[in-house]
Amino acid sequence: MTQHQRLLIIDFGSQVTQLIARRLRELNVYCEIHPFNAVDDAFLKSFAPQAVILSGGPASVTTACSPRAPQSLFDMKVPVFGICYGQQVMMEQMGGRVESGHHAEYGRAFIAPDDGHKGDGIFAGLFETGREEVWMSHGDRVTALAPGFEVIGTSPNAPYAMIADESRGFYAVQFHPEVHHTPNGRTMLENFVRLAGFTGDWTMASYKDEAIRKIREQVGDKQVICGLSGGVDSSVAAVLIHEAIGDQLTCVFVDHGLLRLNEAEEVVTMFRDTYNIPLIHADEADLFIGALEGVSDPEVKRKTIGRLFIDVFQKYANQIDGAEFLAQGTLYPDVIESVSFSGGPSVTIKSHHNVGGLPEKMGLKLVEPLRELFKDEVRALGRELGLPEKFIGRHPFPGPGLAIRCPGEITREKLDILRKADAVFIDQIRKHGLYDEIWQAFVAILPVRTVGVMGDGRTYDYACALRAVTSVDGMTADYYPFGHDFLGETATRIINEVKGINRVTYDITSKPPGTIEWE
Ligand code: XMP
Repeated sequence: MTQHQRLLIIDFGSQVTQLIARRLRELNVYCEIHPFNAVDDAFLKSFAPQAVILSGGPASVTTACSPRAPQSLFDMKVPVFGICYGQQVMMEQMGGRVESGHHAEYGRAFIAPDDGHKGDGIFAGLFETGREEVWMSHGDRVTALAPGFEVIGTSPNAPYAMIADESRGFYAVQFHPEVHHTPNGRTMLENFVRLAGFTGDWTMASYKDEAIRKIREQVGDKQVICGLSGGVDSSVAAVLIHEAIGDQLTCVFVDHGLLRLNEAEEVVTMFRDTYNIPLIHADEADLFIGALEGVSDPEVKRKTIGRLFIDVFQKYANQIDGAEFLAQGTLYPDVIESVSFSGGPSVTIKSHHNVGGLPEKMGLKLVEPLRELFKDEVRALGRELGLPEKFIGRHPFPGPGLAIRCPGEITREKLDILRKADAVFIDQIRKHGLYDEIWQAFVAILPVRTVGVMGDGRTYDYACALRAVTSVDGMTADYYPFGHDFLGETATRIINEVKGINRVTYDITSKPPGTIEWE
């Protein structure tokens, strides 16, 4: 049995649906996003939400076959909050009217309170300056209210921008309260969940206990294997599962020879010595580096590494008697994908980069204790489990490792140089107290040698590029604006301390159009 209160978000395909979940989780409210075409009467009944939010979406309720919520939702006697397309769905299904075209509003807009409304209920705390700034993105608009609703606020292009039927706990807005550009959006969501009776019972301590109980229930007395990369997701998953089932868990750490300086030792020490978790350290550097010899095409590199990874993992996993489960650090953003409104369900589940394809191949069942969590929640869970801060705050590191930071052909010599330069860069970032502000930082070694002059002689060594970005989720990123002093000092240190590099550049490309990694 689930022990916490649950809110259901019905997703109509908006680009920002995930943000609704983010905002609610920040309010310690447990919620799940489900695509509209997976939510029917039976689902509603079994999910038994304490409140429901209808997301925005790209469709128009005025077109035939456009998405709807189950009609039974409006008779469940639970509070409902419709956002943008969600508002239009509510009006369409409850007896109001929506019209298309001519009144599109995109971007910033201001809502004025309707006569007599200062803002109460879910709009409490609004209109303090006499108007409310919001972020709009709609082509259609409501033109007649469903019975029972009244207008709370209007914008120049949306006469029904904020509406409510307080007696039934129904609220709807034309704009997006979940985005940062609606400054008081969080207040509205907070008011909504408080009115719906949520007490904020979603905490990491309670999640941890519940997750442990579920793992025990799922696994019974069987064996579990877990691919450990040393990244925060697999580390937290491993420690959590270990806490649940102890030595029934064996971790496999595949060292493909493409790790950073001292990385393998650090991971192995923490898991074996600190946690006493059974760990197989698969030192397969020769295999991987050998297979990559002469390979310079980035896709071939990735595919070679992925294929070998599965082979190696499988080889070691086969040594564990009776393994029936494979643990993965799948996160919530990997689980939810927005629905496409043009066709059937398009929910796909991304497999973990490193062990994708394994469960099917080996006939293993999955244990994914983080699949309800966002990245920052995983970090909070890690803290709850007592993982060292050094692991929790780690920058993401890709499965193919240094291979994709070494454009062109990989050689052991280049990898050694790269490791040393990378360590100096990260050391600089830590020394300047910038590590936690940066999403990811690393060095790429470039496939060119350039002329330099050091002492009395000329050098002909590699050039490298520093890369440091800020990002929320890795999907978009900005380069980090280091000061010139920092860059100068770092370049000097790398050239002085790392034999083989005589030129340092800083990559100031954002994503898009660039990517974070170099390959
Ligand atoms: P890009 O380079 O596409 O990367 O902007 C976005 C984020 O994903 C990481 N990344 C990977 N992680 N296996 C992984 O586990 C991979 O093959 C892979 N490729 C990119 C990258 O480091 C960044 O955080």
